[in-house]
Amino acid sequence: MTLADKIVKLKKEKKAVILAHNYQRPEIQDIANYVGDSIELSRKAMEEKEAEIIVFSAVDFMAESAAILNPNKKVLLPTLGARCPMAQMLTVDEIKKWKVLHPLVPVVLYVNTLASAKAYCDICCTSANAVEVIESLNAETVLFGPDRNLAEYVQRKTGKTIIPIPEWGFCPTHLLFQPEDVQILKMQHPDAVAIVHPECALEMQNIADFIGSTSQMGRYARESSAKTFIVATEEGLLHRLRKENPRKQFILAYEDAVCPNMKLNTLERLYVALREEKYAVTVPEPIAKKARKALEKMFELTNKS
Ligand code: 13P
Ligand code: SF4
Repeated sequence: MTLADKIVKLKKEKKAVILAHNYQRPEIQDIANYVGDSIELSRKAMEEKEAEIIVFSAVDFMAESAAILNPNKKVLLPTLGARCPMAQMLTVDEIKKWKVLHPLVPVVLYVNTLASAKAYCDICCTSANAVEVIESLNAETVLFGPDRNLAEYVQRKTGKTIIPIPEWGFCPTHLLFQPEDVQILKMQHPDAVAIVHPECALEMQNIADFIGSTSQMGRYARESSAKTFIVATEEGLLHRLRKENPRKQFILAYEDAVCPNMKLNTLERLYVALREEKYAVTVPEPIAKKARKALEKMFELTNKS
């Protein structure tokens, strides 16, 4: 029996589901019950009824959101150290500081934040719905964190004044992409289209044919008549893109664009996590209650559209 078979067997025995982010290793994606972007996975976790255990193969903030949205389930993060550095960039003290400076301005937080930070915002968003969330607010100025690149993307799309908090929050993986590399690839593949995640720098956004969340990039690739795609996001998404579109070509815009945190999850760690039911992710209820409100507001809004 392979390790993958053992995990599949164990997850049945334990009534567990595996939710895997689009950046997970191919072998994890292949045995997951569901693979998706952060909004899709949060929704799945929130709506999960049958399973007793949700194994969230991703990073800390995503597992935390699952624990907040479905507090009666045991949520496991297979690797304790799988933490998103961007989420660590926005502390509660920093949010409080900006709130003092702009007391009447609403706070929108990207889901890539810790639960303690989410507890201090008015509404959450993901890269799939950030524009929609900001447009829904009856405010021309918004405090937005922690990703400055996503903040700039949203500002350009909505025309509103977006104040980034902290001033320079970023994803170290998406910062690796450079427009020069895309220009060279476009010379080699003149018909290729560039699909870019909004966590990339503005110069990358400027040369994109399409900008969206990981799953939106997937949808675009499926529906597009183009045959070749230059992809500017973490390399894990390419497994899914290639699997879903065997006749299309996908080229990573920078070949070392790996999120080391996402990649901490391996089949071995997943197996041990499931066997020993670790690492259980819990959020203290006073924080969870406030963070839940901000997440649910996002779902209410995106459900309507
Ligand atoms: P998506 O919601 O687009 O999957 O993004 C999550 C993430 O961490 C991107 O770096
Ligand atoms: Fe965080 Fe960037 Fe990794 Fe996404 S890709 S989990 S934002 S470090």
